[in-house]
Amino acid sequence: MIAIGSDHGGFALKQEIMKHLEERGIAYKDFGCYEEASCDYPVYAKEVGKAVVDGECEFGILICGTGIGISITANKIPGVRCALCTDCFCAEATRQHNNANILALGGRVVGAGLAIKIVDTFLDTPFSNDERHIRRISQIEG
Ligand code: RB5
Repeated sequence: MIAIGSDHGGFALKQEIMKHLEERGIAYKDFGCYEEASCDYPVYAKEVGKAVVDGECEFGILICGTGIGISITANKIPGVRCALCTDCFCAEATRQHNNANILALGGRVVGAGLAIKIVDTFLDTPFSNDERHIRRISQIEG
């Protein structure tokens, strides 16, 4: 199960990504927002972050205008490793190296075509399980 959330700046891209997840047969839960009216990105960052940390969802996808505010907020939650990606190289690397559990995207930054490739790369890339990466991740918190 994928947790997905956005503010108004990410609403349109979120619709495209949910359509793509449906086409791939990947289950998701939309934590809002549910309309394009102006709203506050921290609300959705916290909902999605909590769903991932609590184990309700395996991964999260968060989208605001830039991806910045929503990723900053998500990363305040212990256990969240949210990576803002604008390309597939970073999406692959953050899964392999950081075991990122939330992908952040900027709805005003990347087009739907690239965003969908970034989503697929993120979801399809396993963590490396490399000892050095495990060690570094354990140093992030604690
Ligand atoms: C909303 O206008 C915008 O500030 C928000 O979507 C995001 O880009 C913040 O980081």
